Amino acid sequence: MYTQALNSETVVSTIDDEQKMTAFQARIDREEKIEPNDWMPAAYRKTLIRQISQHAHSEIVGMLPEGNWVTRAPSLKRKAALLAKIQDEGGHGLYLYCAAETLGVTREHLVDQLLSGKAKYSSIFNYPTLNWADVGVVGWLVDGAAIMNQIPLCRCSYGPYARAMIRVCKEESFHQRQGYELLLQMMKGSEDLKEMVQDAVNRMWWPSLMMFGPSDGVSEHSSNSMRWKIKRFTNDDLRQKFVDATVPQAKILGVTLPDPDLVFDEVSGNWKYGEPDWAEFKRVIAGHGVCNKQRLKDRISAHENGAWVREAALVYAEKQKSRMAQSAA
Ligand SMILES: [Fe+2]
Ligand SMILES: [Fe+2]
Repeated sequence: MYTQALNSETVVSTIDDEQKMTAFQARIDREEKIEPNDWMPAAYRKTLIRQISQHAHSEIVGMLPEGNWVTRAPSLKRKAALLAKIQDEGGHGLYLYCAAETLGVTREHLVDQLLSGKAKYSSIFNYPTLNWADVGVVGWLVDGAAIMNQIPLCRCSYGPYARAMIRVCKEESFHQRQGYELLLQMMKGSEDLKEMVQDAVNRMWWPSLMMFGPSDGVSEHSSNSMRWKIKRFTNDDLRQKFVDATVPQAKILGVTLPDPDLVFDEVSGNWKYGEPDWAEFKRVIAGHGVCNKQRLKDRISAHENGAWVREAALVYAEKQKSRMAQSAA
């Protein structure tokens, strides 16, 4: 009897879930935003937690390669711009952790996943920044690729993520411009400076293309994300948009892009490009890039050094709460 009862309950709940699923998809198709208290399929929630937390981790780890250059910026103006940019990235990480928390995970859990090496973040930040031109190229190419990825996320079906991305994209645009402007100035300088820029472009070009992820044929998460309108474009579409936008910028700058297969295709109106080294991408994602260990070590020590700030904030919050309770009594 018990088994029968259980079975009929399961049937009822499956039909119920199917109806909820149909209604959920209809809302997505009508371009309605899904909000934290709305019903959502478990897989939608899981996909968003993974994507938003990886995004948050990337913003936070992304502060490190540029952080190396704050003390060596060549002028007060450059130092102020770089500091502002790094601070923005920290803010992006915080908005995104908040957006992830609305899905029922705690920030402590997400930070633990990052610090224990379980969570992934963008592979680009495991490459070193070897000279000052790298700071410009990170702005131009890395923030440029991030914008291409993130603008469609402003229309993501999950409300808190979409709204966070609107502000993030405005700031990313400043990041991209400060990088490009820095490089334009360097390209007006000595031959040594020009070589420095070209060297940085040569090293960062392919890792920037890899930021869009593998081709959609091999990307396991693509089709659900497209159906749920978490993603609006495929990885390959976004990569193509990025290449098409970047080639003319490289010409104005006076640098070459290190791809012998780069050619304009009259029929499609796109720049055709060569295949990124996906074996290298997998190696870096798996933790074997030049800087993976260093990045994690730096994040762990920053977290440990910040323990007193978290403790002080908690004590302050408790004090405020008891003051409010006293004045209400
Ligand atoms: Fe950012
Ligand atoms: Fe940025």
